[in-house]
This record gives sequence, structure tokens and C-alpha cells, in this order.
Amino acid sequence: MELWVATSNAGKLNEIRNFFMGTSVNVHSISELPVYTSPKESGKSFDENARIKAKALRAVKNNVWVLAEDSGLEVEGLNNMPGIHSARYAGENASDAENIAKLLKMMSLRSATHRAAQFRCSMMVIDPDGNESLFYGTLKGNISRVLRGNNGFGYDPIFIPEGCEKTLAEMSPAEKNKISHRIQALREFKQQQI
Ligand code: IMP
Repeated sequence: MELWVATSNAGKLNEIRNFFMGTSVNVHSISELPVYTSPKESGKSFDENARIKAKALRAVKNNVWVLAEDSGLEVEGLNNMPGIHSARYAGENASDAENIAKLLKMMSLRSATHRAAQFRCSMMVIDPDGNESLFYGTLKGNISRVLRGNNGFGYDPIFIPEGCEKTLAEMSPAEKNKISHRIQALREFKQQQI
């Protein structure tokens, strides 16, 4: 099965490739397309943005399986921000380090004592006939006070999953892939459609 993934985020793509390793699913990404412009993520929810990305890829790659996901971090003490703005929290082309720095600063400015947070993932899959399905994952945890670990991407160095002592960035890729929001959605997709 050929599965085309609508992401240019290397961290996400690695996790998706690892998940399907050793299966009959061949993962391709938009970086293999000679010309592709990612759509503007103008949706107001994870679902809407996942759909925008899936439809845009489907418009240039029909008759294959297409997968797009939108994910982000919701922090209780910040009224569930950055949410759908996670990738661009500190600005349009912000780095992961800049986004983390802004998040920790916002928490200290607002003396946010509620460090509970969750990663959410909405994943849209479009089959070769054009049928759309949505899959979901949530990973609950807490925001650490300092960055720890070098693995993963995004907010991994400041996210401690519930029941764990390590941040996601201190976990091996295999450990993160057992629990992550993205992997939960992928498992649902695999169980229902593959
Ligand atoms: P988007 O779905 O491409 O709009 O971006 C999602 C953003 O949410 C990423 O750029 C990260 O900042 C954050 N994010 C989503 N999933 C994860 C994760 O598994 N670890 C750390 N950060 C994540």
C-alpha cells in the first residue's frame, strides 16, 4: 500500500515511518513531489487543518492513500494555548527552541501554576476512492520547568507524560512511539482500514 503523508515536519515523518516499518505500507511524503506548495493552515480546529492539508495533497495525488495530521500542545494554565498555533507560537518561522522559550515565558509571566497540558492529534486519511476518515489521539502530561533531553522535536523537551518522570525528549523514539498522540491515531487507522 502506498501512503502519501502531507507533512514537511521531519520529526512527524520519522515517527510515522517508524510506525509502519516492517509492514506492507510504503510511506511517501510531499518532499518527493517536484512541485508542491503546502496550503495555508487557516482552519479553526485541528480537524479543519488536517482536512485542509489532506485535501491539498489529494488534489495533486489522487488514487493513492493520503494522510494528513494536525497536532499541537494545549496548556491548561495558558487557556489551552498554543493549540492549533503550536508550530508558529513565537512567530511565522519560529524554531522549536523559540516556541518553547515563549511558552515558558508566558507561563512565568502569568504565573501559571497549572502546568497540566495535553498533546492532541487529528488525523485525516483519504482512501484512493476519496473517502475521508478522521482518527484521534491525546497524550496528557505536564510542562516541566526546564528543558530536558535531545530526542524528538517541537515541545518534547518540556513535556512529561502522565505517570512518567522523563520528558518526551529524554525517551527513545521507540518509547515515545508507544504512547504518543500521533501513534494513537495511527493505531486507530491501522486497525480500522489496513
Ligand atoms: P502542525 O500540525 O504542522 O501545524 O504543527 C504541530 C506543532 O505542534 C509542531 O510543530 C510542534 O510544535 C507541536 N507538536 C505536535 N506534535 C508534537 C510532538 O509529538 N512533540 C512535540 N511537539 C509536537
